[in-house]
Amino acid sequence: MGDVVTMDKVVSLCKRRGFIFPSSEIYGGVGSTYDYGHYGVLLKTNVKNEWWRAMLQDRDDIVALDSAIIQHPRVWEASGHLAGFTDPLVDCRTCKQRFRADHLDQLQCGQKPSKRPGEGPDCDLTEARDFNLMFETTVGPVKESGATVYLRPETAQGIFINFKNVLQFSRRKPPFGIAQIGKSFRNEITPGNFVFRTREFEQMEMEFFVPPAEADRWFAHWLAERERWYVELGIRPDHLRLRAHDADELSHYSSGTSDVEYLFPIGWSELEGIANRGDFDLSRHAEHANEKLEYVDTATRERYVPHVIEPAAGADRATLAFLVDAYDEEQVEGETRTLLRLHPRLAPVKVAVLPLVKKDGQPEVAREIWADLRRRMQAEYDEGGSIGKRYRRQDEIGTPWGVTVDHQTLEDRTVTLRDRDSLEQVRVPIEGLGDELERRLRAPWATPKLAADPA
Ligand code: GAP
Repeated sequence: MGDVVTMDKVVSLCKRRGFIFPSSEIYGGVGSTYDYGHYGVLLKTNVKNEWWRAMLQDRDDIVALDSAIIQHPRVWEASGHLAGFTDPLVDCRTCKQRFRADHLDQLQCGQKPSKRPGEGPDCDLTEARDFNLMFETTVGPVKESGATVYLRPETAQGIFINFKNVLQFSRRKPPFGIAQIGKSFRNEITPGNFVFRTREFEQMEMEFFVPPAEADRWFAHWLAERERWYVELGIRPDHLRLRAHDADELSHYSSGTSDVEYLFPIGWSELEGIANRGDFDLSRHAEHANEKLEYVDTATRERYVPHVIEPAAGADRATLAFLVDAYDEEQVEGETRTLLRLHPRLAPVKVAVLPLVKKDGQPEVAREIWADLRRRMQAEYDEGGSIGKRYRRQDEIGTPWGVTVDHQTLEDRTVTLRDRDSLEQVRVPIEGLGDELERRLRAPWATPKLAADPA
């Protein structure tokens, strides 16, 4: 059985079930901007919480930060973004469209029949010029005299400019890390592929400060750690790979970068970048702000500028990868069952409590069970429509377990517990149900899609 997932199917399920939908739809939409609905919020929150857990709870050498989106404009001068965060662009004087000059061979021009920009007889392209991807705005009440500031294009710089604060207040010494999740903004010229590339997105970035001699070792450590994180949360290992950047792909700050790539329906694409940034950022900010950004060992008096290893992930892109990897279809009793085989820890809803019928005291008992379970985990109660329909709905939002209350429940206080993946139903007592679900939630999990994949 091959993988049935396509980007269109994921987009359609996301809309149908209220995960993610195009923004400003009632005004005709604004290109490549998306809003997250109830289940999308729950799913992305779980992704971010798992990232926090891996950074903060599972280890003791990282602290958290939440820095501002609007920072001093000189931050972007020091970081190199003002001068270097650009894409080469050409404009077409005929169709008025703008294209990435280095992607012309993959693009379509606005004229019909559509050709590559520059190929048609009427195409009239300008010379390429650099276009900065940062969004600009002004602070202060008077637009003309206000200062130009930028919406941050990455969360990382907020960490570097707080290095001294954190060092002082958290009493850390290298190796240690600072982690942050937050929105970033880039005026991407070719956004697309749903939430894969948008102009407003959330990043999950961690800057790990190390003694220079330990940089290579920590770089290798974070490559392995970050790949392991995706696998532990259910991504099929054969759909994940590490790819080292060629010298001509490296960002201005990096002496080595590897991407964690996922096999999206659009092909292998970057999920997360892990870079060895050396002392570039701290040295640049030290120079521009005229501040000492270094570590001084009080015992040995040794002083040095730490090197930085940076795992930089996208919360939306990771959410998309988990959705894509989880999407499945199978034939059950002559009907197609669509489901999300999400890791239970990521699933928006952990358990649905369903009375078989809306009478005979079943809804009352089901509501009692729901009230108990929802104190422990995200739980839903649903009594509307046929039981088959209610199961299908829960399958499509990836709910790993269904609890059904039936006539027998009223006699012996047992319920059926249904497993989303195997469809197995077992009879269990209501007493202890919460403990059992919590045990399952903590247990290691691997996607059944692994077994179904062709060798
Ligand atoms: N601080 C380094 C940095 O920002 P990056 O590779 O440009 O590195 C890191 O971004 C991650 O942020 C990417 O791997 C991707 O997951 C996410 N990301 C970057 N641009 C994005 C966009 N336009 N839309 C959605 N996610 C994006």
